[in-house]
Amino acid sequence: MTNRIKVMTVFGTRPEAIKMAPLIKELEKRDEIESIVCLTGQHREMLMQVLDIFKIKPDYNLDIMRPGQTVSTITTDVLSGMEKVLCGLKPDIMLVHGDTSTTFAGALAAFYAGVRVGHVEAGLRTYDKLSPFPEEMNRQLTGRIADMHFAPTPANRDNLKRENITENVFVTGNTVIDALSTTVRDDYVFRDDILKSVDFAAAKYILLTAHRRENLGAPLRQICSAVKILADKNKDVRFIYPMHLNPKVRGVAREILGNVQNVLLCEPVDVCDMHNLMSRCYMVMTDSGGLQEEAPALGKPVLVLRTETERPEAVRAGTVKLAGVETDTIVEMADRLINDKAAYAAQAAAVNPYGDGRASRRITDAVLYYFGLGDRPRDFGEN
Ligand code: UD1
Ligand code: UDP
Repeated sequence: MTNRIKVMTVFGTRPEAIKMAPLIKELEKRDEIESIVCLTGQHREMLMQVLDIFKIKPDYNLDIMRPGQTVSTITTDVLSGMEKVLCGLKPDIMLVHGDTSTTFAGALAAFYAGVRVGHVEAGLRTYDKLSPFPEEMNRQLTGRIADMHFAPTPANRDNLKRENITENVFVTGNTVIDALSTTVRDDYVFRDDILKSVDFAAAKYILLTAHRRENLGAPLRQICSAVKILADKNKDVRFIYPMHLNPKVRGVAREILGNVQNVLLCEPVDVCDMHNLMSRCYMVMTDSGGLQEEAPALGKPVLVLRTETERPEAVRAGTVKLAGVETDTIVEMADRLINDKAAYAAQAAAVNPYGDGRASRRITDAVLYYFGLGDRPRDFGEN
């Protein structure tokens, strides 16, 4: 086919890469589409880990990551870097994902260059512009710019409707569920040497992650203190904490948890190891967005180490509970899950409000429909 539409995916952080990977694979399958991948490089090691796993070869990499980067430096570096790429290439549409600074700056650069924007994982909201920071504002601003909106759930679509965003909105499911269906296996052998040697049947393993900007400082200290108390109290339980590469996270984690015998601090694990670790652990404690979607699908109770969430679906289903960032409350809620079988069972049912593994197909079909090359896909939940 000669007149293929040029679809450029732009992303820069680990979670964006994990969630864009299945979509890129789907775009590549379609004859009507020329798929172009542009990395901003907001992350480096944590991004490359994902590209290796999913065998994605980027066409461009702005390579902007620097130690101590701020939301301003990320935004301005992406904006100016994207301008050069977009000028030469003129894609028909740029797809951005979620709520990072890459997302917002990428969308803004496309708008300035006269390139249409499709927003993947659209419509998530807390309506508190300071929490999560800066993600809530990034996604609201990206929503204003976008020409197409791929809302994972009906609730996300309804948020957009409240903001008078009603055109070209598609309910697709979340592509993270597509990714999950390719990674988790019963006979999986871990790549990481430490994880390879773990006997998950021998103890309760609790997966812990924390990295959010608004949690850096006092809240992260409170979270780590709670984990220390829990670990001291429950010697038969083991915590595994793959630490984000941000030095502000690692410093606090090492200081408070470094010498706790039943807490394992390790490097970020690759996404296959992570998904299989999650499927074998007892429960999850996290401030991550992605983990809040993945763990419920795997039937794992989640305590969210934040005071709010833009992902209320699994809270409503009972799998996810908000534990906040206060030490005492975290200890109390986690202790109950560790020691009260009934409380654990009530929270451990597998629920999947975030997708059915066909989000990438729906998004790709929607793009083709937008350009007059196919039928409108049915919304997630309709078929
Ligand atoms: C970013 C996103 C956040 C997302 C998170 C996923 C923004 C403002 N924040 O936050 O929404 O939840 O990614 O993980 O867009 N670093 C490395 N190597 C890496 C990655 C990070 O060394 O591969 C270190 C660097 O020192 C970097 C720091 O981590 O400066 C922070 O990275 P940054 O992207 O600014 O913030 P995140 O907390 O990762
Ligand atoms: N993840 C990973 N290795 C890790 C920690 C997380 O592969 O050591 C994956 C996780 O399974 C999820 C995504 O990274 O798919 C979440 O990324 P993160 O928590 O950094 O960002 P958020 O989702 O909060 O934006």
